[in-house]
Amino acid sequence: MNRIEDPDTLEAALTLIHSRQHISPKRLGEPGPDERQLAIILNAGGAAPDHRRLTPWRLVIVPAERRSLLAEAFAAALAERDPGAAEWQLQEARDKAYRGPFLALAIARLGVALGKTHPQERLIAAGCALQNMLLAAHAMGFGAGLSSGTSLYSPRLRQLFRLGDDEQPLCFLSVGTVTRGSTSKPRATMADYTSSL
Ligand SMILES: Cc1cc2nc3c(=O)[nH]c(=O)nc-3n(C[C@H](O)[C@H](O)[C@H](O)COP(=O)(O)O)c2cc1C
Repeated sequence: MNRIEDPDTLEAALTLIHSRQHISPKRLGEPGPDERQLAIILNAGGAAPDHRRLTPWRLVIVPAERRSLLAEAFAAALAERDPGAAEWQLQEARDKAYRGPFLALAIARLGVALGKTHPQERLIAAGCALQNMLLAAHAMGFGAGLSSGTSLYSPRLRQLFRLGDDEQPLCFLSVGTVTRGSTSKPRATMADYTSSL
């Protein structure tokens, strides 16, 4: 289907885009997507515009039984940048690794190795892939969000996720069931970002 003929269906598609909201991992509970639902969400990423079809992004899923590794990396990253961090702060850092039923790190290949496609284009492709995944999750009734934070850029995280020299961590993608709603924020409209030459 290349065009939505039915006005109601078109309205529904646009409503879907506009009603997507960032849902913080703190507000995501069980159930998360099952295997089939997850495949739909992740495969939506492959439909992103991707100049020269390089797939310059990848996701590393952090399953429940490996969350403790991420928790320790978050705590170690905090201790590295703030050697005086209190135990409760380290624990708070660890806790972040356990939020959300589905958690994955999104990574982009931004180094020179991929050749002619400018890193900026590759970053856009990765961002579009993430947006497709967010929209697919939202369409299926899940809440989803992207999260970053200073620890993302620590050597500990690079080590844990075995990032190559040409790779950069972008953000975490979390998906689950919304446990607490949020108030919608005013959004930019075309007047905020459009002008004519
Ligand atoms: C790469 C990236 C990283 C983000 N990291 C965070 C984060 O660490 N914490 C957070 O609250 N929101 C994070 N967000 C979500 C934005 O805050 C959110 O998209 C923005 O407030 C607009 O809200 P909306 O998505 O509901 O329209 C991130 C978004 C992007 C694109």
